[in-house]
Amino acid sequence: MTFEVAITGVGYRVPERVVKNDEFEARMETTDQWISERTGIRERRIADPEVALSDLAIPSCRQALDHAGIDPKDVDLVICGTSTPDMLMPSTAAITAHAVGCTRAAAFDLEAACSGFVYAVVVAEQFIRNGTYRNVLVIGGDILSKFINWDDRGTAILFADGAGAAVLSRSDRRGVLASTLGADGSGQDLIQIPLGSRTPPTADKTLHVVHMKGREVYKWAVDNVPKILTQVAGAADLTPADFDHVILHQANLRIIEAVSKRLGLRSDQMIVNVDRMANTSAGTIPIALGEAAEQGRLKPGDRLCLLGFGSGLTWAATALTWTAPVPRPAPARTATTGHHEPSVTASDLAGPGVVPSRSL
Ligand code: UT7
Repeated sequence: MTFEVAITGVGYRVPERVVKNDEFEARMETTDQWISERTGIRERRIADPEVALSDLAIPSCRQALDHAGIDPKDVDLVICGTSTPDMLMPSTAAITAHAVGCTRAAAFDLEAACSGFVYAVVVAEQFIRNGTYRNVLVIGGDILSKFINWDDRGTAILFADGAGAAVLSRSDRRGVLASTLGADGSGQDLIQIPLGSRTPPTADKTLHVVHMKGREVYKWAVDNVPKILTQVAGAADLTPADFDHVILHQANLRIIEAVSKRLGLRSDQMIVNVDRMANTSAGTIPIALGEAAEQGRLKPGDRLCLLGFGSGLTWAATALTWTAPVPRPAPARTATTGHHEPSVTASDLAGPGVVPSRSL
């Protein structure tokens, strides 16, 4: 016997500190104009040095559980998709589960880089579909600011910090329609943080930061993301045009626009927040999902596609029907996540907006 699976609640948390593009101009050879035009990014959220991933994951989970109306003790499993856990061990999932009060839950981290959240959603889906678990809490997030060479203009301007969470539950409604996962390790050199068991104990600091062949990743994404999106839509008996909302990994607005153009998607289908949040790796999709839910943009019955891609190379996509309620307003989280302008569509993004802010 198998069961239907639905997302029943979402939440997110980003650091309060906003870093605008012009702060990079003093530090490296770049301009606000280059960053805005080549990436769509205008600002990003950067965590203070003492902040770890679980500091963002815990409030994200509390918000998601509140939205779903689920007691933490009823959560069976917590999965955290991340490449930047609090520590190499224990898992951030176990730390977060304990803090949130998921006392009965199993917990593990899942490393699929920027695809981590959707990968974890698909893993959670299997446990619920086959009847093993009823409620799974899925986290996606990264604190990449601690793993960046702040003198490398090819990566420093792109990456940022943030996390989000979703509750997946056994449901009497058909939420998750179809999913797909993939990996191609032949592209392992395109995005790396080399730190790991291959790192000699005396390794220099350059092994601890993101190394990326940006142009090659860009080309790979523009060639492959349309195919993955078409594949998951087909598996759900849909076409890409049938989705009310598409949330792609927020790596670069130009990738989102190129994919959208290749598939003939409308700009109102695309949920975009890369202009304000930049690339938070495993955090981009749950943050965009959490914002869209909070803004009342997701209506019961809407069809969504979530699609992550990144280092590995990995990719993960899921097609689903939205069944969660419109969340209640929560003043506390609004205060700590700063301003909440509506997410924009790709066509809404115009010229750069430059406002002085704190230095890096
Ligand atoms: O989350 C994981 C997935 N990651 C991605 O999807 C990232 C995908 N890649 C990208 O988003 C883009 O490739 C970048 C934004 C990283 C780079 O944009 P691009 O248009 O592909 O630029 P490019 O790498 O081809 O470089 C073009 C020029 C180069 O200068 P030359 O060789 O033409 O003189 C770069 O050195 O732009 C230069 N450049 C910059 N100039 C000013 C690279 N970064 C910067 C910068 N400011 N920040």
